[in-house]
Amino acid sequence: MLYIIDTADLEAIKHINEFYPVDGVTTNPSIIAKEKTDCIERLREIRRIIGEDKILCAQTLQTDAGLIVEEGKKLQEAIGGNFYLKVPIGEAGLKATMELKKLGIGVLMTAIFTPTQALMAAKAGADFVAPYVNRIDNVCGDGVGVVAEIVNQFDNYNITSCRVMAASFKNAQQVNDCASVGCHIATIGPDIYKNLISHPLTDVAIEGFNRDWRSVYGDKQILDL
Ligand code: G3P
Repeated sequence: MLYIIDTADLEAIKHINEFYPVDGVTTNPSIIAKEKTDCIERLREIRRIIGEDKILCAQTLQTDAGLIVEEGKKLQEAIGGNFYLKVPIGEAGLKATMELKKLGIGVLMTAIFTPTQALMAAKAGADFVAPYVNRIDNVCGDGVGVVAEIVNQFDNYNITSCRVMAASFKNAQQVNDCASVGCHIATIGPDIYKNLISHPLTDVAIEGFNRDWRSVYGDKQILDL
């Protein structure tokens, strides 16, 4: 499983990139708008924090295939490194994806709600598809079920050029369920990271180790021995 940070908050990115084995950052227009700052400069700052090799995705707002391609070229040049253009699924998005691939620009096809959308995106040449797990759950759908179906269909057709990057998580259980159905990548908001690694019994266990050690060795540390 690759872990991606779904935010444009620099402090959150710095922290998670330092303490967790993450593989990149995704943004979308809502995430960028939340920061109320220069979009391109913010994406460059994110690139500086995570380095050239990690995935960085920025989304187009264009609805015309030619303009999507132009925006992809502009963003790739401005941001550099391991960059992918996020393109919402649709006719213009598919056409743009086929053209972007010819130009060697990576594509994350986003706003995926059904397996048929994902399969078409993969066929068009998208590198990643992003099904929105929680938004599907919100309308009484089965977000993880959709992810499982996409993973299964990609397996059926031996599709390895396109990976499933599940998005729109609201809790650690959704991430866990996606991992259990073989989802390749999860892009997760900063608030959820701590919940992926915390457990009250872990805290109790660590307190016990410290208490037992101190009862015999006091404040002496292994480094002091
Ligand atoms: O970019 C996809 C993802 O960020 C959507 O998440 O939380 O707005 O449903 P959310």
